[in-house]
Amino acid sequence: MKKTVSIMLALLILISFQGCGSDSGTGGKKAKLIKVGFCQTGAESVWRVANTDSMRKALSEKNGYELIFDDGRQQQENQIRAIRNFIQQKVDYIVLAPLVETGWDSVLEEASRAGIPVIIVDRMVKVSDKELYTAYVGSNFLEEGQTAVRWLEAVLKRYGRDTKPVRIVNIQGTIGSSAQIGRSAALDEALRNHSNWELVARESGDFIKPKAYEVMCDILAKTRDIDVVYCENDSEAFGAIKALEEAGLKCGVNGGVIVISFDATTEGLAECLSGRISLDVECNPLQGPYVADIIQKLSRKERVDRISYLEETWFDCFTITKEIIERRAY
Ligand code: AHR
Repeated sequence: MKKTVSIMLALLILISFQGCGSDSGTGGKKAKLIKVGFCQTGAESVWRVANTDSMRKALSEKNGYELIFDDGRQQQENQIRAIRNFIQQKVDYIVLAPLVETGWDSVLEEASRAGIPVIIVDRMVKVSDKELYTAYVGSNFLEEGQTAVRWLEAVLKRYGRDTKPVRIVNIQGTIGSSAQIGRSAALDEALRNHSNWELVARESGDFIKPKAYEVMCDILAKTRDIDVVYCENDSEAFGAIKALEEAGLKCGVNGGVIVISFDATTEGLAECLSGRISLDVECNPLQGPYVADIIQKLSRKERVDRISYLEETWFDCFTITKEIIERRAY
């Protein structure tokens, strides 16, 4: 009798342990997780942190993924090493947010030889063979820059400054990144079209607040005759504004230095409401759900769009409200 009770008890324990490991609705079998290696550029900006969060949420274990995250710490060689590790770990998919556009051919060929699809996010890569990546989801940076330039043209006109000299400082992003290339190219195009616009200084702030502060201080040591500061992201705008104000200059569209920025993070829009940032062009970091959708389609052997640009808008000091900022997801 004693023996029968112990056998029954052992059986019960075994059954309950099996239950712990099972996924509900999978008939006691644990569903296989999709293994994804995600290589991020770093954590240089508020935008970047929101981008990482979005990926982590969309590619969570709860959603059926095993995510291997790698922080490239702003170095392309770290990113290349991470991709090689992902290949060794036999991931199902590689997601890459490339720091810069060039220099990816060899490592992407290695991924291709290993049969691992690569999804490029945020910034683009320039490769000799387009088949080296399966899909891209991110921003049209040239269009973002053109939006900024069109806004500036309209505002200068509104204030009767469209024929007067306009002295512009450009704090660029990480040189060679798509975000820098597109946004700088839009400004270059506008400089060619407006003989009264003058580029008085152009330096890289690397998308980082302290670096932008530093370069803006150096520029201000040479000249204070500045009408517009075209920063290529919010973090740079925060650094530039700090330097401008410390130098005794006012930031604002009416009689001050017009600060243009990109990203439209909550913090950026708060500066828009304060009037320090005149225009903030949106760059959408919430790319995780799009990547998950691409992976799901690829797993079902469905066709995916090679290039998907996210819809983006812009906000300026004339129309921004507290309510818009409160509704902001990042
Ligand atoms: O590539 C997107 C840019 O990179 C964002 O504008 C910036 O904030 C980020 O660091």
